Formats: sequence, structure tokens, C-alpha cells
Amino acid sequence: MIGKDVDRVDGRIKVTGTAPYAADTKIPGLTYGYLVTSTIGKGQITGMDTTAALASPGVLAIYTPFNPLKLFAYVQEQNDERFPPLQDKEVRFHGQAIGFVVAETFEQARDAASLVTTTYQQQQPVTEFPGRTLAQFEEVEEVLAEGVQSITQVDGEITFTASYTSPFQHHCAMEPHATVATWNGDHLTVYTVSQGAVLVQRRLSETLGLDPAKIHVLSPHVGGGFGGKWGNWAQVPLACAASRALNRPVKAVLTREQVFAMAGHRPMTKQTISMTCTADGKLTAITNDGVTSRGLGGNFSESVANWTLTTYASPNIRVTKTIVPLNLGAATVMRAPNEANGSFALESAMDELAEQLGIDPLEIRLRNYATFVPNTGKPWSAKHLDECYRRGAEEFGWAKRPRKPRATQDGDWLVGTGMGTATYGASRGLASIKVRLHANGTASVSGTAADLGTGQYTVFAILAADELGIPVNRIRPELGDSTSPVAANAGGSNSTCTNGPAVQVAAKAVQTELITLATTNPRSPFHGKEVQYRNGSVSSGGLTMSFGTLLTTCDVGGVEAIGTSPRLVDPEHGFRSFGVHFCEVRVHRLTGEPRVTRWLSVCDAGTIINAKASRSQIQGAVIMGIGQALLESTELDHATARFSNANLASYLVPVHADIPPIDVRFLDRPDPVISGLGAKGIGELGIVGVAGAIANAVHHATGVRVRDLPITLEKLL
Ligand code: MOS
Repeated sequence: MIGKDVDRVDGRIKVTGTAPYAADTKIPGLTYGYLVTSTIGKGQITGMDTTAALASPGVLAIYTPFNPLKLFAYVQEQNDERFPPLQDKEVRFHGQAIGFVVAETFEQARDAASLVTTTYQQQQPVTEFPGRTLAQFEEVEEVLAEGVQSITQVDGEITFTASYTSPFQHHCAMEPHATVATWNGDHLTVYTVSQGAVLVQRRLSETLGLDPAKIHVLSPHVGGGFGGKWGNWAQVPLACAASRALNRPVKAVLTREQVFAMAGHRPMTKQTISMTCTADGKLTAITNDGVTSRGLGGNFSESVANWTLTTYASPNIRVTKTIVPLNLGAATVMRAPNEANGSFALESAMDELAEQLGIDPLEIRLRNYATFVPNTGKPWSAKHLDECYRRGAEEFGWAKRPRKPRATQDGDWLVGTGMGTATYGASRGLASIKVRLHANGTASVSGTAADLGTGQYTVFAILAADELGIPVNRIRPELGDSTSPVAANAGGSNSTCTNGPAVQVAAKAVQTELITLATTNPRSPFHGKEVQYRNGSVSSGGLTMSFGTLLTTCDVGGVEAIGTSPRLVDPEHGFRSFGVHFCEVRVHRLTGEPRVTRWLSVCDAGTIINAKASRSQIQGAVIMGIGQALLESTELDHATARFSNANLASYLVPVHADIPPIDVRFLDRPDPVISGLGAKGIGELGIVGVAGAIANAVHHATGVRVRDLPITLEKLL
């Protein structure tokens, strides 16, 4: 079953609208919370008049910094809010939560929120990012990234240097952030969006000052996350604390603009890359000085230059990181954080260097192929990127590519091709999974993992079905419940790599439990016999009985086992997934409009569990990469420090008409070091290298090199 095309087990309930999402939760007596947000970018709140709002129909309570719900400071640094809402009067960004109105209906809460008037002592917000504008920035921290080697002086000139920038971007998951909280005594139940139920549980435990055992988080279906649902945002603690104070269930859903303002964004970045190489294109030194913004509402910034540490062989590699704090909400992880932007710069620079030397872009990558991890010298656990390059080039027809830019025209369209390398870190964490065999012949498989639309439910089903030897449709995967054994959260391309082996261990362990039952239960026909488990049945001699029949015969509801797969601690190897993208881009010679017209990705991510869903993962990532390259940019209005296109009409994401057929191939070669299963991550791999490949193809089509994302048509005229 492993590696075949399997339809998603949760597909039908999702497309028929019966999969329960957080905001769908209906509880008797439900009340509705609506956030009041700051209308300045920096300053102090001097007063809030809630008189009119409190007098309006249906209003139950209004919480403000003058009348706060008690929340404790967060203990652990996480990629979300640094400051729990309403605990002080400082405004750090436009759109910060400064009030919470709870009413009997959503409309009543929203209307009352509009009646709250706030006065501020206003200060000038810091919004300028160096490199994007000429203005100076206030505060800079120099941080050397991990794995930095000191650069030794090399003979030979710097052959190439250039800077690349990327704008603010937003995750734009279709489902906005929603939380429903309800209390039973001192036990809290929370239905919420999340990339991991235990992440929410831990965060709430900190800020509510509550034993995690008293917090039950449910997040069975999530409508996209892309990093934006890794952390908790203001609606989570506010809904929970207000529900406790009012002794009523509370539901809070962020508006789309609130999602943009306060629920995380990808920081702005700039990378300055310098490379020296020999005349035949072998790198002798690379430096990458990365600059990243950080929203003052949070802690996160991108270590954008770090991708340069691990991608190409060079005896000298140095990267730096400079953080520019801005008056914005928390920046956070988004769609291959660090690496999607990191690869745009280095993949562009490699092509620019190749052109300068008169070497084919693929050839220069092969000449600098990293047989060992460049910054540590360690061997890779498994790396077949060279095979991806060869296979991709052959299938794409790379050899036919004209060397010179602007050499191919088709009617009014200038045609170019480009390529980009994809790599993304892999690791295997600790995970526990419970498998239970039921008397009705089904098996449930549970862990606190999340399925954001990624296919994790189906991975659980396939691996359990494979290990138990029963059809996929007899497996019932149960995800997104904090009371399950703790499994990997959905982030860092970690789910399948970490949870997969645990599903296998648990599905094996439950067979032992079943055999024990078969041989020791007095009602069992196998009592006292030697038995075997195979394909869902227990047998001995001529007698075979399915586990469902056996459990029924023994009058036992089920047997279960928890399997644990430990964290992989292997300081000897470097672990990454690899791939390559080849693409064709057409640019209109008169309007400058860029269109992506052909795509091939070849990936080496270890064992593939579900070929269909894996192709779909890479296709989705390539689509996000096309957005990153050509469309996506959140604009900041410097006068107000407000994101001015904070909606899905004017924040452009690709639509069907923007996307060509995307061919995806997997080598499907197990990584023998990472686990017995041999699977590495594919969640984020697919976006890495996409923007670089497109920038390279645009240059090949037009002769114009765009180093500032997104590559919009005015930059090509
Ligand atoms: Mo993801 S950006 O690993 O949450």
C-alpha cells in the first residue's frame, strides 16, 4: 500500500461540508466575542470609552486594558505573540487587540465594538526597512547564524555580488482564525484552529495559569495553516478567559483584516550575496549578509541567509543576520521559513554567476555539488539530488536550451526557461501513537498530529493498514485531540517523518496485545495455543479468525497499544530533502506580463507514503512559490503602519488561470538513516527554489534580472 495513489480518507467529508472546523462548533448558550483593535501604529492608550457599547443590545461584557481579563505572561518563546492581549496600555502595532466585546450574537458584538472610542498618546511608528526605502532604521541587532565558519582570505577577486529582497507576505489560509471556548468547572475545552493541539494546550496553560491536564484542545480539521496557525493569537486566550469570567461558551473569529494585522506574517528580507570562484566555476567563498524584519508584537525573524550554509560546496561560507524591529504584529514562520526566501537569492545568484562565466546554470550547480554538508563537513544521511538534476534535465529537455537570454520568441511572447534547487531540513522527533482494534473490525489510530489539508489523516491510514494487513477503509485515523498520545505537530515538514514510524510501532504493538488476548482469554478458541497474526486475522493450525470476530467472541470491546518512536539523535549526519524545479516562463514583449507555462519538479524526499497526496503537496508548494515569485506582497502604509491590502481581493495569490500543469516526480528512495520507514518531509520542500527558478526563467526570456520580489510586470518593461 505504501507509495501508491490513495484518495484522502477525509476528502469526502471535507468536500461535502460535513468536516467540523473550529468555527462550526455549536454549543448551547454560545456567545460571540469581537476584537477591538488599535488604529495607531505606536503609542499609549490614554482612555477607552465603552459607555455606548455597553448600553447597546445583547452586550454581556467589554474587556479592555482598563478592565482586563487576567492573562499571565508567556513563558516560552514561540513563533507567536510576545505579549498577551489587554495586559498593558502600550500599542506596538496597528491592529493590535486592545479590547474584546462579548455579546449574545456576532452582529451585536461587532456593532458594540464599533462604538468603543479610544484615545491615544501617539508616537511615530517605525516601519521603514533598509534596502526597500532610503530611510534609516532605528535599531539593529547583529547575530551570527549557527554553523558559521570564519572566512579565510582567498586569492582572487570577488567575482560576483548582488542584493536580493523580498516583501512582507501573508499565509492567507482559507479558514480564518477561530476559537470556541467552554468551561466545565475548572476544566476548559477549546475548539480551535491549530497546527498542533498540544501547542495550544501549552500556550493556554502558560497564559491562563492552568494545569495542562485541565485543558482539552480539539482541532480535528484545519483549513490551511502554512505556519500561521503554529502559534496562538489574541482570540485564543481572550475567548478562553472571557468564557471563564462569564460562565458562558465564547466563540471568537478573526476578520480577514485582523488575520493580516495580528496573526503573523512573513518578514521582509534582504540578502547580499558575494561569491568568489575559480575560472571554471568552482566556488572558493560565499558570503550572505541577511537582513530581516521582526514585528515588535513577537519574537520571530527569518534566518534568511542560512540556506547558503548547506546548499553548495565551498571551502568558505559565512552568513550573518541583522534584525530590524518594526511596529508590526508578530512575524512568524511561513511556508518554508528562511529557506523559501533564502533560496530565491542564492538560486538567482548562481545563475548570475554562471552567466558571467559562460557556464550552463545546471553545470555550475553540478560543479559545486555538495557531497558533504558544506558548513559542517558531515556526510548526508541520503542525497540523490544529482539524480534529480539529471532526470529533470532529461525530461524537461534542458539540453535544448539556448545559452543566450532573449533568444526565443513565440508571437508576442518572449520565452525562457530556468531552474532552481530545492532543499529543506529533515528531522525525526519523538512521537507516540495509539492503535485500537475494535470488535466491528475497524482500527482507530490516534495521535495529537494535525492535518492542515496536507494528507496526514491518510498517511496514518496507509501506514496502519499496511502494518495491520487490512484495507485502508477499515482504519479510522483520529487527529487534532490533545488527549491523544503526543505526536508531531504539523510544522517544519516533520509530520510524516516523525509520526510514520510511531504508527508502525503502535500497529505492531497492538498485534501483540491481540495475540495475548487470543491465547489467554477463556472464551477464545485459541486459548492456550500458539497463534500468528496476519492480514487482520489470528490463526492457529487450520483455524483463522478476523480480529473483529475474535474480539466479539471474547466479548471484549477492543484491544489497544501505544507505540512510541524516539527522537532521532544523530550528530554524525546531515538530514535534508532535495529536489529540483525546471520551468518555462513567457513574458509579453509589450505589456511585460509574466506567465509560467511549464513546470517539472523532481524530488528526493525518501520513501513516499501516498504518491497522489505527495504530488499534490509539491504542486501546492509550487503554486505558493509562483505566488511568492510573481504576485504576493503585503503593502505597508507608512503613515498609519497599517497593512493596506489586508484582504484576499487585493493581496494577490495565484488562481487557476495562473497555473500551468505541474509535473512532479519522486525518486522514492528511502533514507536509511532517518528511520526504518525512510520517509523525509515534503511539506515545505516544494516551495524552496521556485522563486529562483522563475526569476532565472524571466531573465532567460527577457534579459532582465529582477532581484526584488515579486517580479511584477512594471519591473520587466
Ligand atoms: Mo510551517 S511554516 O513549518 O508551520
